[in-house]
Amino acid sequence: MDLPRLETILTRYEGETWDLIPVLQDIQDSYSYLPKDELLVVSERLNVPLTQIYSVATFFKMFSLIPKGKHQIKVCLGTTCHLRGSGRVVESLSHRLGVEVGYTTKDMQFSLDTVGCLGSCAQAPVMMVDDKYYGRSTVDRVPKILKLYK
Ligand code: FES
Repeated sequence: MDLPRLETILTRYEGETWDLIPVLQDIQDSYSYLPKDELLVVSERLNVPLTQIYSVATFFKMFSLIPKGKHQIKVCLGTTCHLRGSGRVVESLSHRLGVEVGYTTKDMQFSLDTVGCLGSCAQAPVMMVDDKYYGRSTVDRVPKILKLYK
């Protein structure tokens, strides 16, 4: 556990129950996931049962209970992207990275996830790597995009 890092996050808040989601967001941003030991401390400090924290953590897709990779790939499976072949892009990424959707490669370089509409339907199919959007992402473009992050 990285207690100093967690303390830095917790000092930003009053320690009230309603701070739970912002605290979890900060932990997610800082660690790229929600480590169990840190959640135990949050449970104590905010006086929120651990079961409730896990309910929140599993309800919102922005949270992950497993470590994320250095680069986070998100492929849009919204209606427009789906109709334009984003499912095949996901399959290609999964095959090339050797990882199922929702998981991270063994070398911790990439996490692969799917999301709803990314708000760029005109560019469908759309995928993101970290904060960068890649419109018109076809199976043929996948190797080139991955190469940029290796
Ligand atoms: S459906 Fe994919 S960006 Fe809107």
